[in-house]
Amino acid sequence: MIERPRILLDEHLQTTRLERAWTAPACWYTDPGMHAWELDTVFRPAWQLLGHVGSLVNPGDFLVSDIAGAPVLAVCDRDQRINSFYNVCRHRAGPVAAGRGQCSLFRCRYHGWVYGLDGTLRHTPELGEVAGFNRGSHGLHGIESHITESLLFVRQSNTNRANGTDIDRVMREIDARISPQQLGNQTFHTSVSYTIDCNWKVYVDNYLEGYHIPQVHPELADILDYRDYKTEILDGYSLQYSNIESATSAYSAGAAYYYFIFPNTMLNILPGRLQTNVVIPLAHNRCRVDFDYYYTDTESDSARVQIDEDLRFGDLVQQQDGTICEQVQRGLASGSYEQGRLSVAREACVHHFQECLRKVFRDPIG
Ligand code: FES
Ligand SMILES: [Fe+2]
Repeated sequence: MIERPRILLDEHLQTTRLERAWTAPACWYTDPGMHAWELDTVFRPAWQLLGHVGSLVNPGDFLVSDIAGAPVLAVCDRDQRINSFYNVCRHRAGPVAAGRGQCSLFRCRYHGWVYGLDGTLRHTPELGEVAGFNRGSHGLHGIESHITESLLFVRQSNTNRANGTDIDRVMREIDARISPQQLGNQTFHTSVSYTIDCNWKVYVDNYLEGYHIPQVHPELADILDYRDYKTEILDGYSLQYSNIESATSAYSAGAAYYYFIFPNTMLNILPGRLQTNVVIPLAHNRCRVDFDYYYTDTESDSARVQIDEDLRFGDLVQQQDGTICEQVQRGLASGSYEQGRLSVAREACVHHFQECLRKVFRDPIG
């Protein structure tokens, strides 16, 4: 494990009740040394959402993603098992696949080595007589994966110690809570990614409170019942929920659930629609947020109109969040700000997230 950054002071790692709490200090968001530390302590031991099994049903269906610190590939093999690998060729580390789709073999996009759906190396064009080369030991490296409630998660470092988030329990609890909505009957529709010039925690903090909705998202405030906006702190995750009082062009009426699973997975569940967000740290002051949209009905004319409107509205809200997050990052880096206080009424989930981080930083899993 890399050394703990010097800016991580013991006094900032103490557990504090919300009423007495201060936010995480600005240096946690602006110090370049935090990036490698967090990849090591927060992300590698954590389950990372890769996608929905509905995208991996037929032999050869595959999807690729860059989870924090690692390019990853999942594929349905000829026995209809889902395999997960690092998307890293054993020759000189090129990518063997890109995007999502269907194929019968993977051909590395650098020099064309060929791998089967089971990850075995099948063909090495023009390799010649390389001494001692054993094709059988040059298959793609696997990555630990787990499917729960139709979602596929991967994890980079296997650890025997609990990492704070038992993904099976969390997903079972979510599935029971959102009934009669179901995660299983959703069909993948679209992926959209946004790169934002802010630390990944700025984006997560922002996601975890509805406090900013009236100011930053006036259009969303008109739809959600802000007075009815509630939060729940749970073990390893949190929930914000609200009612959509009447159907709009983008949403059907009903309960809206916004789940955050520590450290970086968000499930936004509305009637007939699942939107997942995964926040990927790219540097201390830059992150990418990968949005996947799923719907129960992607075919009917009325569904298509509603989906178009959902995508348009989702993009508007995201642009608003990206703009405010970049402004907050500049504020944090200004030298004028150290720590702030949190709203007891509106920022319990932010506090919970920061307490989860403090716990990991105090006692990192190596
Ligand atoms: S890096 Fe894959 S074939 Fe060379
Ligand atoms: Fe927002």
